[in-house]
Parts: sequence; structure tokens; C-alpha cells
Amino acid sequence: MLRPRGQRRPGHRLPLTGLRPSPGGTCAGDPYFPVMGATGYDALTYHLYLDYTPVDASSGTLDATSTMTLRATETLSSFNLDLRGLDVASVRVNGLRATYTHTDGELTVTPRLPLLAHLPAVVTIDYGGTTGRPTDIEGSLYGWVSTSDGAMVVNEPDGAPTWFPVNDDPNDKAIYTFSITVPEGKAAIANGLPIGKPRTRDGRTTYRWFEPSPMASYLTTASVGDFDVTTTKTVDGLPIINAIDRDVTPANRTISDAALAKQADMIAFFSDHFGPYPFTSAGAIVDDDNVGYALETQSRAVYSRVAREGTVAHEIAHQWYGNTVSPHRWADIWLNEGFATFAAWMWAEQTGGQTVATSAAAVYATPATSPFWSTIVADPGPTGLFASAIYNRGALTLYELQQEIGAQDFATLLKAWPKKHRYATGSTSDFIALAERISGQDLGAFFDAWVYTGTKPTTW
Ligand code: ARG
Ligand code: ZN
Repeated sequence: MLRPRGQRRPGHRLPLTGLRPSPGGTCAGDPYFPVMGATGYDALTYHLYLDYTPVDASSGTLDATSTMTLRATETLSSFNLDLRGLDVASVRVNGLRATYTHTDGELTVTPRLPLLAHLPAVVTIDYGGTTGRPTDIEGSLYGWVSTSDGAMVVNEPDGAPTWFPVNDDPNDKAIYTFSITVPEGKAAIANGLPIGKPRTRDGRTTYRWFEPSPMASYLTTASVGDFDVTTTKTVDGLPIINAIDRDVTPANRTISDAALAKQADMIAFFSDHFGPYPFTSAGAIVDDDNVGYALETQSRAVYSRVAREGTVAHEIAHQWYGNTVSPHRWADIWLNEGFATFAAWMWAEQTGGQTVATSAAAVYATPATSPFWSTIVADPGPTGLFASAIYNRGALTLYELQQEIGAQDFATLLKAWPKKHRYATGSTSDFIALAERISGQDLGAFFDAWVYTGTKPTTW
């Protein structure tokens, strides 16, 4: 669902230029991840049929079919998807077998007939292979991470192509359904809501899931494990579906159960401050594997080993900041992490813990000589996306902004930001423009000091 700003919505007329096909682009142009994504089309839906069998603690076999619909934005002789580490067996476009090349993670498909501008097409890809434990640019595990009992699937920023062919660009959100078949006894949990009951045949069980709200590819999950699954509902009727790995230690299970029991209250509290909860389900996946971090996968975050209260508040806040409004470029990641960190400060204060002011002061107390202050928050580089400053200086920036524009305008901004860019993306400059519009203030110098300069600001 790509909605480039400033471009007119296509009408029903096919422009004559549309009859001259040209190849779609092979990257979306993010400066940090130059090979991610593609151009020339808008992905509408992904239907992923995944048949997974764990082999040992660090590998498994995946046999999969993706049926996706897309709409060409120009007339295409070929188009591109990202897929790494798995092999393609066949590609069909609108039912006709297509030719393709697949090298260095780039799958380029040449359909028998060109894809006409503005018209939808159905692309069916049979693929699969052996899964392992992929790592990101910093060496952290991500993507389809094979575990001893299944897979922990967390893709931020560019791990989605480790398990399905995708236009891996947060600006191209789509609707997803998942049909995941695993050995009987295991559970498979994805984003959103279950479709029907799991079905078992010949020792294999199929779980189907549906996320009805547009979703960025990095927020997809289809985690597999020996999970205990429970479903409850909030007073507003929102389903909370939790899956906890039976191998989680008793101590971590106790901590996680207590924290997850607060999800409904967190959603209610954040809804008051951030606007209505943006999705149709919520919950958590707690996997025993030591991937080492949690990820705010849409509607249902994934936690590694334990879900602590502060982390749960953080991941739930991401449903507004990160998942409703996603980063336009990866350089904008502080808008995800700063808001989620700030929100966890709010939850702590709300529940009788440290006040937001104290949390902010603790970050500001970092000595000016610390390398902490050298991160340029709005341009941390591809290996700085998850630096401490992105979270903590990001949150402090929001606290300082609240002092600068006043509590009332800040409260308006908290709700306006995800609302304005709902199911889409926003950039740092979009955020600054909105803050200036709401406050009527010129905030250029403020944001220069807080997010564009690698030194400790002195405007406290
Ligand atoms: N967005 C996640 C969080 O704040 C962190 C993801 C870290 N990802 C990574 N590849 N290191 O909870
Ligand atoms: Zn986060």
C-alpha cells in the first residue's frame, strides 16, 4: 500500500505511456539498506503458506508458497522482490509461468505479459530450503531464527526476506494472512487473529492467522514452538492472545505472567494518551530462545526468554509509535524507540514508580564527555539503529519538547502523530512540521540541538 506523497491517486484511465513496459527498480532507496525493497509496484496482500519442520536446535526446513497481489504503479516488463537464503522453485504471474533470476537476495521476475500500470496482478511463488540463525548488520539474530522447538521470527530492520519474498520497504505496507503447518503438538502464532480452529492431518497441524490492518514487513511474525496459548478479552472486547513457550524457566514464567496480566491496563492507559488502540488484537509471544531482545511485531510482540513489565509497556506503545506510523527511512528510527521509551516512563509513573521527570533527569545526568551524546539521533547510521541514545536521548528529546511547547500541545501531538500517518510512514521532518504546526513555534533550533547534533544539548 504505497502512497507516495504528492502523487495523484490513479484513476481508471490507463495512460498511453503505460503501454511502454520498463523494468521495475530493484531497491527502494533507503540510504542505510540500499538493496531493501523495490519500486514500480505496490504490494497489496501477502498470503503465506509455510510448512515448517525443526531439524535441530539451529536449523529447520521450510517448504512454502507465497501468493501475493500487487498493483503496478507503472507498466512493468519485470519486477523485483527480496528473498535471501532460500531457493525459488517456480513463479507464476496471473496464472502463467514466469521466468526469473535469483542472485544475491534479489528475485527478479519477468512475467509472460507485462504488468499494466494501475492493474492488480497475482504472483505465486513456490520456494523453500533450510533455515538457520541469520544475523543483522550488527550481528544480532533476526529473521526466521530456528530454535530447539521451532522458530522465533523477528525481522527488524531487514530480516523478512529470510522467510518470504517481499518488497521489504516499510513504506509499502500490506495485508497479510498466514497458513502455518507444523508437527502436531507445536503451535504457530502470527500477527492478528486466528482464522478458524487449527486442523491436524497425518501428524501435522495447520494454524491460520489474519492481520487485517496494513503492516510493514519488518513487523510480521510466524513463530513456532511448544507454546501454551491463552486468549482473554479486554473490557472493550479486544482479544489478547498470549503464547508462552513451555521451556521458559519457572522464574521467567512468573515474571512474564505478571507483566502480561497488565496488558489490558496498559492498552487502556495508552489509549487515553495516544488515541484508540490501532489494531484488532493484542498479546505476546514469549519464546525460550535467547535471541536477546523483544520486538513489537504488529498486534502481538515477541519476547526473548522473559517479558518484563517495562518491556511489555515499551512494545505495546510501539503499536502506536512504529506500527501505526512507521519510519519513512531507517534514519527515523528514534521516532519508534524514543516514543516507546517515553511511554514506558509514563507507565512507570502511572503505576507509582519513577516519575517521567526523574527518568529524563537520569538520562540528562550522563556526562557530556560520554560517547552517549555523540550519536546523531536522527541519523545514527545503519549500525546505530538500536544504540542507547536512540532510545534514551530519543525519549529525553520528547520530554524536552514537552517542556518547550507545553503539556497541552504535547498531549495533542502524542495523538496527532500516529493519527496523521496511520497505516503509513512518517519522517523526522514530518514530525518537526507537525510539532511546529500544533505549537505555533519555530522548533528548528530545538531539533537541531536534540536530534541533529552529536553533543550534549545545554538547553535544559
Ligand atoms: N525494536 C526493538 C525494541 O525496541 C528492538 C529490535 C532490535 N533489533 C535488532 N535487529 N537488533 O524493542
Ligand atoms: Zn523499541
